[in-house]
Amino acid sequence: MKLILKTLSLALLASASINLFAADPAPAPAADKPAGPNPAKQAVNVRKAAFTLIGNSFKPIGDAAQGKAEYNQADIQKRANRILVVSEFLDSSFPEASNLGEPDTKAKAEVWTNKADFDKKLKEFQEHAATLAKVSATEKSASDAFKEAFGAVAKDCKGCHESFKAK
Ligand code: HEC
Repeated sequence: MKLILKTLSLALLASASINLFAADPAPAPAADKPAGPNPAKQAVNVRKAAFTLIGNSFKPIGDAAQGKAEYNQADIQKRANRILVVSEFLDSSFPEASNLGEPDTKAKAEVWTNKADFDKKLKEFQEHAATLAKVSATEKSASDAFKEAFGAVAKDCKGCHESFKAK
């Protein structure tokens, strides 16, 4: 977990510089200057780190929703909040230049050729993650409301992967 957090924070720093770059496109580096860090690869690293953290945080929520583990409200609320925050970093983690194909990324080219649908799925995921965070702030047991909120997010993971992630 420590390593993931370290990767994520490095990756988030990298994404901050990508955002700067997008706001103010710098001229191409002169040929005699060493190329800086590759923003496309950094974006891939950001999203992989973000998804790894999302996946690790989501698993115990799923176990509680499916009755495979006890419902620990404090823990679930913490994890749901984390998923929400990290999901927001994904907004800037799919720049066009990061359409590198395998093996660099499992993001399919459709992320960029079918961008409207991808953005819609990402937005729905963020909204459902917000609902899950809100519900877990009040639900004291693995209630129907909790299971429903979990189910909506789980459907988002699956739906987006089916369309936009290589196996
Ligand atoms: C809007 C689309 C979308 C949603 C929603 C989404 N994913 Fe993904 N996920 C992707 C894409 C695209 C990749 C491939 C990233 C890459 O390789 O660059 C990915 C990769 C992953 C990975 C692999 C990370 C790695 O290091 O290679 C995991 C784990 C993952 N997702 C888990 C989840 C979970 C769990 C959820 C739901 C809680 C979720 N994802 C929701 C699109 C999505």
